[in-house]
Amino acid sequence: GKDGYRHFMEKELHEHPLAIGQTLQRITDPTTRQLVLPEMPFDPATLPRATITACGSAFYAGMVGRYWLESIARLPIDIDVASELRYRNPPQPNQGMALLISQSGETADTLGVLRVLKKEQQKIVSILNVEHSTMGRESDLVLGMVAGPEISVASTKAFTAQLSVLAALTLTFARKRGVINAQQERELTNHLLDLPSRAAEVMKLFGAVRVMARVIAQARDVLYLGRGICMPIAQEGALKLKEISYIHAEAYAAGELKHGPISLIDPSVPVVAIAPSTILFDKTLSNLQEAKARGGRILAFTDAKGAERLSDIAEHLVILPDVDAFVAPILYTIPVQMLAYEVALLKGTDVDQPRNLAKSVTVE
Ligand code: M6R
Repeated sequence: GKDGYRHFMEKELHEHPLAIGQTLQRITDPTTRQLVLPEMPFDPATLPRATITACGSAFYAGMVGRYWLESIARLPIDIDVASELRYRNPPQPNQGMALLISQSGETADTLGVLRVLKKEQQKIVSILNVEHSTMGRESDLVLGMVAGPEISVASTKAFTAQLSVLAALTLTFARKRGVINAQQERELTNHLLDLPSRAAEVMKLFGAVRVMARVIAQARDVLYLGRGICMPIAQEGALKLKEISYIHAEAYAAGELKHGPISLIDPSVPVVAIAPSTILFDKTLSNLQEAKARGGRILAFTDAKGAERLSDIAEHLVILPDVDAFVAPILYTIPVQMLAYEVALLKGTDVDQPRNLAKSVTVE
């Protein structure tokens, strides 16, 4: 049941800390506090490259995974949505890995890619919530998330659980590829293991998010901006808003704003920024100043330090706990999904069963 919540989505948003915590706990060695994944069906040290594929939200999780695996584990990645990759016929390396991400393990296009790449001799590793699924049976290795059942059509906790597995995979590969030292690994691991507590603090932000939601609910179009590892979180936010509130939203890499979409900006098109104070913060800030100068209404998710710099230009801020840039995409996902939920409430839509959508898309 919904445990007293109005919707499964609301309940599942509250389960983020648990989903992240249980997923990490399952792969944390209790004595060393090191993240330990099952043996890979190949040697990660000599893996030449990997392909990541998925659909919808799971694809955006894969985009975050690409940033991590490339920048931390130094592994070259090809990534595409499953419906495209399926028919692209790209050359595959000897002994490559195909990494599939799916909550249900039943999505037709993702399964289609699994079968195509298996024929191409790629080792299939799947990150799944439902481990006893078709993808689970056909994979060489399943990395399970422990998110619990997700009922709401809009994915919430499965997304942060997917990211938790991807972060653990990144650290494991980085160690085996010899591109990270023990102290760096320990620090990054600790940031991850601290996340369930930080995520629990984020649950107190529903009120602040609700204020922001009132601006969005009036709009017909919304622009989401992020840079680097937070760009896929902007995409996840835009998808979630479209999906359950039926408001048109688009996500852009903040640096792309001036290459076109800035012409859309006026007071009727709110701009939502995912802007933790990481190394790219100043660049995002200057993009937001440009949007503001053209009459844009700026709404931002940031931390205390970012808030000081954004207070002049932003109409509403949601201020998150300070976290390391490595784990920021996981934490920032939560209020971004909460925003879509609060807007849907204001719009009075069918939050758990949005029109035209199914929880699991088992046809092409
Ligand atoms: O079960 P899967 O993770 O393979 O599903 C993929 C997408 O259909 C799914 O993430 C969809 O985009 C969600 N409704 C997004 O909230």
